Amino acid sequence: MRSSQFILLLLFSIGSPLLFSIRDSILALKTPLEQSRVEILLDKTDQNYCIPSGMISDACCDFETVEKINNDLTPRLRELSKTKFFKYYKLKLYKECPFWKEYGMCVNQACAVETTDESNVPEMWRSDVLGALQTSQAGTFFQPFKKCEYTDQDFCVVEDESDSEGVFVNLLDNPERFTGYAGASASRVWKSIYEENCFNIIPPINNNQFNNNHFASSSTGKQLGNILQNVARRSDPTDNEEICFEKRVYYRLISGLHSSISIHICNEYLNQTTGQWGPNLECFITRVASHPERLQNVYFNYIVLLRAISKAADYLNGYEFCTGDKNQDLQVKAMVSELLNVARSCPETFDEKQMFASPESRLLKEEFKARFRNVSRIMDCVGCDKCRLWGKLQISGLGTALKVLFSYDDEYLNPKVNPNLLTRTEIVALFNTFNRVSESLSAIEHFRHVYQESIRGNDKQINNEESSKVEIETDTKSHESSTTKNTTNRQVDSLSEEYQFIIKAIISTKNILSSYVINFYQTIIRQLEYWNIPVPVLLKSITS
Ligand SMILES: *[C@@H]1O[C@H](CO)[C@@H](O)[C@H](O)[C@H]1NC(C)=O
Ligand SMILES: *[C@@H]1O[C@H](CO)[C@@H](O)[C@H](O)[C@H]1NC(C)=O
Ligand SMILES: *[C@@H]1O[C@H](CO)[C@@H](O)[C@H](O)[C@H]1NC(C)=O
Repeated sequence: MRSSQFILLLLFSIGSPLLFSIRDSILALKTPLEQSRVEILLDKTDQNYCIPSGMISDACCDFETVEKINNDLTPRLRELSKTKFFKYYKLKLYKECPFWKEYGMCVNQACAVETTDESNVPEMWRSDVLGALQTSQAGTFFQPFKKCEYTDQDFCVVEDESDSEGVFVNLLDNPERFTGYAGASASRVWKSIYEENCFNIIPPINNNQFNNNHFASSSTGKQLGNILQNVARRSDPTDNEEICFEKRVYYRLISGLHSSISIHICNEYLNQTTGQWGPNLECFITRVASHPERLQNVYFNYIVLLRAISKAADYLNGYEFCTGDKNQDLQVKAMVSELLNVARSCPETFDEKQMFASPESRLLKEEFKARFRNVSRIMDCVGCDKCRLWGKLQISGLGTALKVLFSYDDEYLNPKVNPNLLTRTEIVALFNTFNRVSESLSAIEHFRHVYQESIRGNDKQINNEESSKVEIETDTKSHESSTTKNTTNRQVDSLSEEYQFIIKAIISTKNILSSYVINFYQTIIRQLEYWNIPVPVLLKSITS
């Protein structure tokens, strides 16, 4: 007998039991694969799962503390971001991309940014007024020679409110959400940030990996391929011991920002069938939750921002929030002050003094700054206006936090002695960014509930399936091969997509029968072993 015939025979003889044993083991052991997601998503009060739990890497605070603080801070930040002072942001939205030719995506309506005419904003913020102040050198209130894009203290290119090329944007009119911005343009931005501006922490990325862009993810149903990739790539690039603390922090900030942006998009996703906006669980799982380190980095960004705000608390308490409306200004001042009290009452979350502590790290600090500034320039290359707006704002917010943490000593942050350390745009960016990351944490909590509900739904389905299984199996015995296909199909439909894929692949492979079959089964075995799913003995025996 030729070997191919032998394999053919072998497969036919063990084919259907094999099929069932695989299906059963997948059904019964549904959990291991899901567990990696469940870990992150499960409600803590349920089943005692405390994940994410424990200390956040490179921080001095745990997940639980952060979630507790956030429950208190979210509503405050939300309210604050609606005030006149904080909802208007001025930026140069239409700068040219300095690194490559970017043609943009003006055609997409969802990407459009609605700008606000200067006549709608308080007079004192208008560029002609600010410009006049600058040329008359009226005191130091508006740093007279702010012609450079940044100063030595800055970690990003700072938006200049007196620049007549800038546009005012009412952030409330332009919510950060799904836009459909995708493909090569979005990939290129993140690729150049990670590959060329991230201290070579992660190895070169192949293009496919980034083709599902991260500004506006669009996960479309059949995502097994992605999930496999994601699960396989779960290792945290910062696990490498050779990477120093400062570089790890840098990477976490970028990755956390990236993940936080993904969460915003998944949380306000457009259901293209119904035209309604709402959370998209699958998007969240594929983009973020299946990568524990990405999720962790969102928390990391939160604590860095929180620490910066606490550190600058005295300065911010002394700051005049001027919009021209006395009552509102006092109200904003009171809101900020309460928020700062909450932030300050928290235990220590991040110890910035550990960074750049050694004399040799002076150079490293300069490099850190230069790279972060470069990232803020790369944001000008984002092809979708709305994504660019939020990308620029959040990079500025993080840049401001870094400036507070690393450019000024505590004593220096004194509003009486140094009233002009931060500009209005920086303060607006800082609080709005904190608000966005805070919304991300709330969204994570919400997704946890949605996920549990979806599991409960699935369990019901599977239980129903179990009861009809007996019947089907008796059926199977009488006319083996023909019904196998039918019953399998029926069962397959109720399984989740991933398992469907595996089972369908097995069915079709069984029919194709080539020398690749063994290889294919071996791959499956490896994958099952990787997921810690016990491999059916039969499956093992044909490949050994
Ligand atoms: C800034 O980023 C661009 C695009 O990734 C890169 O080509 C360039 O080398 C970077 N410049 C610096 C100074 O890091
Ligand atoms: C869109 O809405 C429909 C109807 O409510 C729902 O069946 C479908 O699953 C939704 N799609 C996504 C991607 O959420
Ligand atoms: C599959 O089931 C249908 C009835 O549901 C039956 O008519 C058909 O003959 C079955 N196909 C095979 C291949 O057994």
